[in-house]
Amino acid sequence: MVKDNCPIGYDNISRIYDVSRAANVETVEKLVRLLHVSSDSVLLDLGCGTGNYTASLQQVAKSVMGIDISISMIERAQAKSPVLQFICGDVTNLPFNSETFDGAFAIQVLHHVKKKEIFLMEARRVLRKNAYIVIHSCSHRQMQAFWFYHYFPKGVEKDIKRTPDVGEIASLLERTGFSNIGIEICYHDVVVAHETPERYLDKNYRDGISTFTLLTKDDIELGCEKLQKDIASGAVESTVQQYEAKVAAVGGSSIIYGRKN
Ligand SMILES: C[S@@+](CC[C@H](N)C(=O)[O-])C[C@H]1O[C@@H](n2cnc3c(N)ncnc32)[C@H](O)[C@@H]1O
Repeated sequence: MVKDNCPIGYDNISRIYDVSRAANVETVEKLVRLLHVSSDSVLLDLGCGTGNYTASLQQVAKSVMGIDISISMIERAQAKSPVLQFICGDVTNLPFNSETFDGAFAIQVLHHVKKKEIFLMEARRVLRKNAYIVIHSCSHRQMQAFWFYHYFPKGVEKDIKRTPDVGEIASLLERTGFSNIGIEICYHDVVVAHETPERYLDKNYRDGISTFTLLTKDDIELGCEKLQKDIASGAVESTVQQYEAKVAAVGGSSIIYGRKN
């Protein structure tokens, strides 16, 4: 069995991951278009987690294989559908033959992987000629527009530190042999229910978001106190609105894609 060596420890997060995450329609539409998905496509979901995007893409493709390093995330994914194919494994050492897939995608995974170039080189190896890869991430400007960081400011510092900016991801794709590189903006945020501030007072909800595993108890307690006060006074509403105006301008997340020649 592959050891969950993701520094975040998704084995713990798996039980509540789906409370804050779901496949987003806008992202799915972009995946289908940018990966040129047809009913003959054989796809690979890199770092598939609980399989939300694997299941969505399965509806339009011939097959989708999901791979994740966390056995608990894979078990959750498999429990959703016995017909979907999942495997526990490391994206930097893919257990597939070269030129197997017609497209590959990684949703909110790259920032977790230390050996990013090896990850992308492996993805390129298993793709067929002319097949596309799609990386979904958040730009640094987009992260700075998320209202919840207003209450947990160390979170944005830490998330920016662990996440390459979109331009850097585009360069990484180029360096690892992809061409036809492009960037598209998604206007939704990655975490569902960002619009309900009360949820951040719930430890169970916070535990499903990896940012909170990077914060100290004090950072979290301080943020929750401030948030609770603002909820009580109503001030939270204008804070959220200010940040939402920023998201409307810069987007909530980004897609960076490239083609294997
Ligand atoms: C934020 S979750 C995203 C899950 C899924 N893509 C989604 O959008 O719902 C990040 C996932 O990447 C996985 N992961 C991190 N490092 C990995 C690696 N080296 N190989 C495979 N999976 C990895 C984690 O276990 C986790 O399930």
